[in-house]
This record gives sequence, C-alpha cells and structure tokens, in this order.
Amino acid sequence: MNHPAEETILNVDLSDPGSLPQTAIDQAVSLMKTGRLHRYGEYSGTEPHAALLEKEFAQYVDAKYAVGINSGGCAIFIGLKVAGVEAGDSVLVNAFNLAPVPGAIHHAGAKAVLVEIEDDYRIDINDIREKAKQSGAKVLLLTHMRGHIADMQEISKVCDELGLTLIEDCAHTMGAKWGDKFTGRFGALGCFSTQTFKHINSGEGGILVTDDEDMAAKAILYSGSYMLYGQHQSAPSEAVFEKWKKTIPNFSMRMSNLVACILRPQLAEMTQRGERWNEAYAALEQRLNDITGVDVLPREPKEKFVASSIQFNISGLDQQQIIKWVDQCTNRMVAIKWFGRSEPMGYTSLYQHWQYLNSQSLPKTESILETTCDMRIPLSLTDDSCDQIALVMKEELKKVRRS
Ligand SMILES: Cc1ncc(COP(=O)(O)O)c(C=O)c1O
Repeated sequence: MNHPAEETILNVDLSDPGSLPQTAIDQAVSLMKTGRLHRYGEYSGTEPHAALLEKEFAQYVDAKYAVGINSGGCAIFIGLKVAGVEAGDSVLVNAFNLAPVPGAIHHAGAKAVLVEIEDDYRIDINDIREKAKQSGAKVLLLTHMRGHIADMQEISKVCDELGLTLIEDCAHTMGAKWGDKFTGRFGALGCFSTQTFKHINSGEGGILVTDDEDMAAKAILYSGSYMLYGQHQSAPSEAVFEKWKKTIPNFSMRMSNLVACILRPQLAEMTQRGERWNEAYAALEQRLNDITGVDVLPREPKEKFVASSIQFNISGLDQQQIIKWVDQCTNRMVAIKWFGRSEPMGYTSLYQHWQYLNSQSLPKTESILETTCDMRIPLSLTDDSCDQIALVMKEELKKVRRS
C-alpha cells in the first residue's frame, strides 16, 4: 500500500508478540537435544518441565492443582467434562466471547445458552438468573472477555443461589485479580490459554486449575496421561486416580514438554510483564479518551486487570463509516478490530456467526458490540507509539466524518 509522504505510519506491529526470554530459548534448545518432548518418560526420566510448570502455576495462582493442556479451548472442554456436563446439557456463557468458547461447549455435546452483557462488556448478572431459569443450566462458563472481570462476589452469590458450577475462562486474565484473588480461583475450575496472543506465549497451550481432587484427577486422565499420572507434581493421591482411571477416556490433549519448557521462564516474569502492560494501557487510554467520539470506559478499582488489549466505544459514525475508519487506520498499521462486523473476521467473532448454536436473540449485547472496538497492546508499546496511534485515529476520523 502506498501512503502519502506526510502520512504517519505506526512504527510498531501491534500484533508483535515479542521474543521469548533467552532462558526459554536456551532451555528449549537443550530439551530438543534430548528429544524428550513428550511430557512422560517411560524407562528413563525426562526433563519434568510440564510437571514443574504445573506446580509453579498452581503456586502462582494459589490453587491446589494445575494441569497442562494442549490449548485453552481444550482446557475449557476438559473443564466442562470434569464439571459433569453431558451431551444435551445447557451451559450458560457470555454472548460477548470468542469462537473457541462456544466451540468447546459444542465439543462437549452441550448447548450454549448465551447471556447478555452490560455496557461495560461484563456479563449481565440479572440475565444469568433469567437464562438459568429458562434453560435449567447447572454450569456457568464465565469468560473474562478481553480482561473485563465481573463483580466476582456477585457472581459467586448468584452461582450459590442458583446451584451453578462456575468455570472461569481466564484466557484474557492471566495474572489478573478481582480484589486480592486471582481470576480462575472463584469457580470450581479456571482455564487459561498460552496461545501466542495471551499473557505468556507457547504458540498453543492451556492450563486448568482447581482445588477439587476428583476434578484434578479426572482432568489429568482426560488430558491423556497414559497411566503415568504419578509423574505429575501437582496432583492428588494415587487413591483418587484409582477411583477414575478405568472410566475416564484419554482425549490426548496433554501439554508437551517443549511448550512447558518455554512457558516456565515467562511465568517467572509475569508480574513485571503485567506492570509493563498496564503502563502501556494507561498511556493509550489517556490518549484515546482525548479523541472526540472515542471512549475507553472506566474500570472498577477492585478489577486488577492485566491489559494485553484495550477496548473502546466509537460514537458518531454509522456502520459504513466505522468500517471505513477501521480499515483506513489498519492501513496505517493501527490495527483496530470492530466487534460489530457482520462477517466473521480474524478474532472479532459475534455470537450471530456461530450458526451451529440454537438461534438466540441478545439485543443488548448486539447494540453494545455495534460500537465496540478493540486493539492489541504489545509489551513493547512506547509513549511515542501511543502518540502515533492517537494521531492516526484522529486524522482518519476527520476524513471519515468529512466523507
Ligand atoms: C476468550 C477466549 N477463551 C478461550 C480461548 C481459547 O484459547 P486457545 O486459542 O488456546 O484455544 C481464546 C483464544 O483466543 C479466547 O480468546
């Protein structure tokens, strides 16, 4: 694409995940030299990276057990299975979500019952009550979508009141807390993703956490432990596995040793990474809020998010103008995603795109997403780049408003 000479082009790729820490690279090379990339050793021992990552992750979020899985979506699928979801069951889930989440529910043979969101992108608690009554669902799969964390005291209350098992999808909230408790620790199970665009990056990967020994043993067996579960370091006793080992199928969804090996040094840096992300978020938030027609919503003090992306509302443009604006900004490397697109594109799926679900109408969510935009925040984002982003957005808004 040719750009006029005077036009600013953003000097960073907002989707740049950045290099892995040198220790991760070194550990991966030395593991590859052994060839022991499968997490379980049969005769001689293998480098126990997967077992160590699980132990370290459980300690990090203060959970009894953590289980390495091959992806975040599969962690949710296994979470649903260990929570007792069976084919035909209804599962409540926020309608503002990403494709792997209804996908995991479908994978488990269950029916996704979509719940409305509020203006601040978080789940509508009254609609949880409504949809639970209508559907008879016994599980709430709560996605902390784009890192926006609902009032977890209220969520816990409503789950108790309605007898719902809570599974938290923390794909966007690793390291984030509500009050002083990590997300993933309010429900029976927490599911994390380590796919490249998440807080720690192994290309693909997932981690499931729980305090429940039966759930932990079942998750390990489902993940595909070949009866080598004794090699886990974050696992219940042999007696718990004895109860389940002949009735739980092996779904071959375990984490590879190579994945675990590159995650461990990143997890060790998670606190600093979170601080850096939140500095970049604050810098961007301030600049975006200075643009007329662009609003980053305020967040609750109890919500200790780790912002790897920023969401904002765009006002004063019709749908065609929003598309034009988003595309023009994107041409100048300010890659904005708009959740109102009628066709699924990249990571911007709308619930209407999941036509394998029963048809459902969520007018509130639909109207909120019509003006909701999203931008990734790379860890390397500088104040200068934030200035450039704001400049490009302003200039393109002017052009679109004139047209
Ligand atoms: C909200 C949400 N949940 C779950 C997942 C699943 O993660 P994975 O890509 O590791 O399967 C994603 C991935 O993008 C996601 O955005």
